[in-house]
Order: sequence, then structure tokens, then C-alpha cells
Amino acid sequence: MKFFIDTANLAQIKEANDFGILDGVTTNPSLMAKEGITGEENILKHYVDICNIVEGDVSAEVISTDFDGIIREGEALAKLHKNIVVKVPMIKDGIKAIKYFSKKGIKTNCTLVFSAGQAILAAKAGATYISPFLGRLDDISFDGIELIKQIVHIFRVQNYQTQILAASIRSPLHIVKCAEAGADVITSPLDSILALLKHPLTDIGLEKFIADHNKGKKISE
Ligand code: E4P
Repeated sequence: MKFFIDTANLAQIKEANDFGILDGVTTNPSLMAKEGITGEENILKHYVDICNIVEGDVSAEVISTDFDGIIREGEALAKLHKNIVVKVPMIKDGIKAIKYFSKKGIKTNCTLVFSAGQAILAAKAGATYISPFLGRLDDISFDGIELIKQIVHIFRVQNYQTQILAASIRSPLHIVKCAEAGADVITSPLDSILALLKHPLTDIGLEKFIADHNKGKKISE
């Protein structure tokens, strides 16, 4: 399972990349706004800055909701860097645009997927990735992990090549459950990735090993 970081924060992207486990980045308009990145020129430059940090796919989202607008924006984004993946919303013109991009060899990530039916449509159109938002489903009392399992099952049975990119991750347990379910990729905030490191028995065990080593040193001195 690949690990993407879900942020537009360059410091966090560098930290995850230096950690050695990063395979790519996803952004969205809300994450860009959170970093204070506004205006077309600044937004495009920021995507290039991200691509220069990480050797892996970087999702850059279109704002248009009509076919011509999505194509215009998507083609401009794809020209920025070879690793840009055009992130397209799960709407009718979005599906048409995914088909168009797929024929042109431009990678896509179909975003805002909340059902198996939507996932099937995006796969049929040739999306490189689909992003089911599991945390937002959990927020409204639907089981996001169950949706990931259902989509994994369908894609295996149907032999769809589209990768399942589990998004809207809220906890380290989400990451573990996505791995168990067979997601191809998770995209997560940095804190949930780093929380995978934590176990109290690791901390207690390490403290004891170091204390015992130091005791042994004193005896031999
Ligand atoms: C996916 O690509 C989105 O950027 C993201 O995972 C949404 O997460 P949120 O529900 O925490 O905003």
C-alpha cells in the first residue's frame, strides 16, 4: 500500500519525505487555502514546489465543474510536471473529462467518491485513482471502511486497473484498516502517519534496554 500525505504544507511534506515512507501527495482547494496559497499563479507555483520535494504522484484539483473548464484547467496542470495527477470531481462532466484525459495519457484522481456506484463509473472512464472519503462517511454514521472493502472487492472481481486511494483519513486505525481491506493507497495527514509509530510497550521496553545497558557499563568501569 502506498502512502500519500494529504496536505499543501511544504514543511510537513518535507518531514514525511525525509521519514522515507512517502509515495506521493494529495491536495485540495481547502488545503491550499489553509496554507494561504491563493491566486492562479501562486497555486501553480506551489504545485511545482511540491513536485520538487517528492518523487511521486501529486494530485492537483480543478475548480471548474463544466467539461470545457475541467479540460482547460487539467491540461494546464498536467503541463506543470510529469508527476501531476489531475484531480476531478465525481460529477457527470468530471467523468467525461476523466475519459478524455485517460485517452490522452493524462493521469487522473476522481475525488469526492462516496459510493461503490460512483467508484465503478470512474473506473469505467479510466481514472488512474478514485478517492473514497472514508472519514466524511464516518462523520455521518456510515462505515467508511466498509465502503473501501466493497470497492476493493468489486475492482478485483471486475479486474479494474484504477487504484483505490482511501482519503479523508482521520486516525492511525483508519490506515491499518485500509491496509487490511486492500486499498492501493492511503492519503493521510502527517499526524495519523506518525501515530503509527506509537506503542507504550515500545517506549517502556526501550527505556529499560537503555537503562540496563548503562548499568552494565558502570559495572565494567
Ligand atoms: C482527498 O484527496 C482529500 O484531500 C482529503 O482526504 C479530504 O479529507 P477531509 O475529509 O479530512 O477534508
